[in-house]
Amino acid sequence: MNADLEGGSVFDRIDQLPHLNTLPPVVGRINLLLNNPNVRIPELAAQIEQDVTVSARLLKMANSSFYGFPGTIGSIAQSLVIMGIEAVRGLIAACEVFDRLPPAFADLVQHSMLVARISRTLAASVGLAKVEEVATAGLLHDIGQALLLQEEQLDYAAFLESGSQASDWIAREVERYGFHHAQVGFRICQHWNLPDRLTFPILYHHEAERALEFVPETKVIALANSIVNQVHGHSRAIETSGILLPGVDSVVIGSLIAEIKELDSRTSATRRNGPD
Ligand SMILES: [Fe+2]
Ligand SMILES: [Fe+2]
Repeated sequence: MNADLEGGSVFDRIDQLPHLNTLPPVVGRINLLLNNPNVRIPELAAQIEQDVTVSARLLKMANSSFYGFPGTIGSIAQSLVIMGIEAVRGLIAACEVFDRLPPAFADLVQHSMLVARISRTLAASVGLAKVEEVATAGLLHDIGQALLLQEEQLDYAAFLESGSQASDWIAREVERYGFHHAQVGFRICQHWNLPDRLTFPILYHHEAERALEFVPETKVIALANSIVNQVHGHSRAIETSGILLPGVDSVVIGSLIAEIKELDSRTSATRRNGPD
């Protein structure tokens, strides 16, 4: 057990957040089904398809050019085959939380999709297993911010606005709230029963050097986040981020930067306030 997880007080405080326990109903139903180790994909797909809105959101996200499967995934069953059960479960949860965000925060959703896409490429290029789960962790890495924005009593939107030039967001969040958004995201994903392979990289996406488990996955998410933020002028340079992955050199990073810029050219929403 990582020392960060032994003291419960931070997570006890996070667990008091009213929106934390609003598990999307479909995720609850899927979790119940997954208690049966012999559950089959058609059965899971049928359960998800019962919720037409959730299914539509999932397919829209999966098929968006930012996420990475443009025009590829035609059904829930196909999404489960291509991405895997855990990745789809995380994707549904992300869609549900993002859907509750006011339109003013669409850039957070776009940022998350880009980090997912870059995480997928990096995970594949360093030979990680379960690449789609890593991509889903990329999609979920800032889900704590999305939840904090829904907690009206925290006034998190005003907090983000007040520090638009700040670089020490984690420290500022801890000072203001007693926890930071990566810890909130980790806790939400634990409540959703997502696997450690997804939750640990979320917890350490700003402090990859502290990760003791799922270290390569954590570095992938942290580096993807750093690359996307550097393109958007939102964080320190990649070269000084201290995140190294075997085989990921300046040529690889340069091609990823070009890919992000090409995607950006199709939209205008790229700059936002808040933690990266
Ligand atoms: Fe973050
Ligand atoms: Fe981020």
